[in-house]
Amino acid sequence: MRRPHVIMNAGMTLDGKLATVAGDTRISGREDLERVHRIRAEVDGVMVGIGTVLHDDPRLTVHKVPSERQPARVVADSLARTPPEARILSDEAPTIIGVSRAAPEERVRRLRDRGAQVVVCGDSRVELRCFMERLYEMGIRKLLLEGGGTLNFSMLREGLVDEVRVAIAPVIVGGREAVTLVDGEGFESIDAGVHLRLRRYYPLGKDFVLEYEVVR
Ligand SMILES: NC(=O)c1ccc[n+]([C@@H]2O[C@H](COP(=O)([O-])OP(=O)(O)OC[C@H]3O[C@@H](n4cnc5c(N)ncnc54)[C@H](OP(=O)(O)O)[C@@H]3O)[C@@H](O)[C@H]2O)c1
Repeated sequence: MRRPHVIMNAGMTLDGKLATVAGDTRISGREDLERVHRIRAEVDGVMVGIGTVLHDDPRLTVHKVPSERQPARVVADSLARTPPEARILSDEAPTIIGVSRAAPEERVRRLRDRGAQVVVCGDSRVELRCFMERLYEMGIRKLLLEGGGTLNFSMLREGLVDEVRVAIAPVIVGGREAVTLVDGEGFESIDAGVHLRLRRYYPLGKDFVLEYEVVR
């Protein structure tokens, strides 16, 4: 299967949260945000789940470091719930939305009218292997996966992630309902989990960055 090289990245608290229970995501520092934007400037696409679009309304562009190019913004959105006024539909960069065959036609048409390229994969949920193949065909060779925890789990479970990079901020926020780096159903044994090899680690401003490759 031909698919993009996928780098999963997140800024998280020491207790592994990507946001607080109230949805506050101001976790890592300025230097780390610039690191993320430098990765965005190097890849062909930046991907999130519809949960992140609805919670944060992110721009997903490169705007914290100078860049000649903008990667495509990519969303996994089974039912085409991306609001037509969402910032990822701005004309600053291309937008690719993966939907399933269950997405209402009217909503899909509205997203196409707003300039998004809509890719249909899967019956009721976006089938991620199909979506990755289609992204590759569209010229996306390197993809930055920016979460949230639900999409991260599915991408890992499907074996679609090649690298994991995290910036750990020196803060603890707790909360059983707070989104973590990887949520979803989880693996039942350590052996069944996703195994990583540590490649690099360094302090960055107030944070600490860890970079891994996925072994299996
Ligand atoms: N600190 C950080 O670096 C960071 C980064 C990103 C996000 N966040 C936080 O994370 C939170 C959002 O995380 P989340 O876990 O709720 O949402 P998410 O992972 O962004 O999106 C999950 C949604 O994606 C859709 N999806 C489509 N196909 C899927 C598939 N095959 N597998 C899994 N999901 C699929 C599903 O909705 P449908 O079924 O409707 O398609 C699913 O509910 C927000 O609070 C955000 O602030 C933090």
